[in-house]
Amino acid sequence: MSFTFRHLLGTEALTRDEITFLLNQSRAFQGIQKQPLKKLATLRGKSAVLAFFETSTRTRISFGTAAARLGADTMNLQAESSSTQKGESLMDTVRTLEAMKPDVIVIRHAASGAPHFVAERLGIPVINAGDGVHEHPTQGLLDALTISDRLGRMDGLDVTIVGDILHSRVARSDIHVLSKFGCRITLCGPAMWLPPEIVQIAPNVRLEPRLDPALRGAQVVMVLRVQTERLQEPALPADEYIRLYQMTPERLALARPDALLMHPGPMIRGLEIDPAVADSPQSCVLEQVTNGVAVRMALLYLLTGGAPSGAAAG
Ligand code: CP
Repeated sequence: MSFTFRHLLGTEALTRDEITFLLNQSRAFQGIQKQPLKKLATLRGKSAVLAFFETSTRTRISFGTAAARLGADTMNLQAESSSTQKGESLMDTVRTLEAMKPDVIVIRHAASGAPHFVAERLGIPVINAGDGVHEHPTQGLLDALTISDRLGRMDGLDVTIVGDILHSRVARSDIHVLSKFGCRITLCGPAMWLPPEIVQIAPNVRLEPRLDPALRGAQVVMVLRVQTERLQEPALPADEYIRLYQMTPERLALARPDALLMHPGPMIRGLEIDPAVADSPQSCVLEQVTNGVAVRMALLYLLTGGAPSGAAAG
């Protein structure tokens, strides 16, 4: 199979074969991370705009690292120090960046659909680095790569995702990827963060507001970041969230003994996750980060140099 997408806007529209292809392409770049000399010249002369209208540590630096390791240059926009602070619109901002002739634009934005809006109007490939509460496709792919590497397969797994499902673009991208491999996905969190309609986005998705039953038998446990500003009295004080949902060693023990513990970051230790769990042998948190560079190298390579252009994904 070949890669025929012009953009990567989400995982929803990706088929199982396309995801498998992207993971295999990413594996080719995993080996490079282990070499003493990590720099290739594959994309020498190409440039990538990293337009981050929202804060980021992992995704922004991971795309920058991926581009550098392929020999591409990066042009960085950080909203807080850009002319968006003077009132410039998203479209004028990205058209200005496009006028500097980059080969691809990576965009993170607080508005769901912003990368799609941009992709329809620019003449270069667009990669969604997280849009509002919609999708975070490269996180979905790096999570899949991590699961596949650690467990040797992705088919038919029992996966539990815990936290603020309602606002999680990571959960959505992971659900779209994992459901295509026949995984059974349990979404767990406070009722106010468990929208009933989310079970319709993919097959084999169920809601379970109680953590203990949600964890029993799970082969993969994903803990989501909780935004502290959403934990407010009287609806859900932080100490109540900790009591009911913090991932502790005792709770993780309800899952399979070899269950993977994943978190997209940034982690709030002591809130959604006990430090003993974050640092346990079951934790894949740092492997997720390492795999993110390989996934983003594969995408930059495919979208700027290694693949014919075609339709948008997602
Ligand atoms: N996982 C993730 O998107 O982290 P950042 O917000 O640090 O990019």
